[in-house]
Amino acid sequence: MAMSHGTHNRPIGVFDSGVGGLTVLHELLVALPHEDFLYLGDTARFPYGSRSPEELVDFSFEVADELVDRGAKLLVVACNSATSAALVALRSRLSEREAGAVAVIGVISPESQAAVVATRTGRVGLLATPATVASGAYEDAIAAADPHVRVTSVACPDLATVIQRGFQIDDDVVGMVRSYCAPLKEADVDTVILGCTHFPLVRPLLQRTLGPRVRLIAPGRAIARRVECAIAAGGLGSERVGEGEYRFLCTGDEESFREAGMRFLQMPISEVRRVGLSKLEIISG
Ligand code: DGL
Repeated sequence: MAMSHGTHNRPIGVFDSGVGGLTVLHELLVALPHEDFLYLGDTARFPYGSRSPEELVDFSFEVADELVDRGAKLLVVACNSATSAALVALRSRLSEREAGAVAVIGVISPESQAAVVATRTGRVGLLATPATVASGAYEDAIAAADPHVRVTSVACPDLATVIQRGFQIDDDVVGMVRSYCAPLKEADVDTVILGCTHFPLVRPLLQRTLGPRVRLIAPGRAIARRVECAIAAGGLGSERVGEGEYRFLCTGDEESFREAGMRFLQMPISEVRRVGLSKLEIISG
């Protein structure tokens, strides 16, 4: 890919429906400390997990265009629901830009490969949003990596919303997690994919419910490794010597994003700017 002057020092764009993708950004900040990042949380249209594939493609195009127009040199889709519906269409859209192609990396393939490597029994579980489960994207990615691995998928319609709202871990949340984990225990899986970027926030609860021998696969590390390789292969690495900067955009309330975001990122968030994605009507979740 021919790089124009200054491309190396442009930010990596990262997006999610809300603050869940910050669990992915956290790993990227650790793995690629010299890079700059620009994160967009489409909080006004959260949750994505109950959207149709058509809506998810429209929203993803709009968010991707915003980040690329603001200079993103690479795009990370840190949302499983958006990846499941829009990754292929996004890749084709961003490869045809007159101003130069931008590579797109999604969460599903890196996590699926990590799960296939981790399982010893060939029985893998998936916890994800209804949109992600309905797409069959994990089943396809796992079948491509190893046709002998069987996937038991569980749609979790409410968990991301509870987490995004800044949940208290009370009996209701514990009961919800137990009911989502029950089919996975029944299927005797040895590996569970956290197929939603919000779910690492309830990792201890999931691990306790599923038992200590079950391996949990979260999106962060697997995708950070994929981004590192893409940066190296594309010759896109920042020339900066010290630590890079990271900035935030959201489509909803800035202060709620900042407050919830710090819990997810476990690093300071100084400034959040609200961005109006005006081409599409904002539909409340
Ligand atoms: N972060 C989204 C995902 O990974 C889940 C939350 C939502 O429903 O928007 O699918």
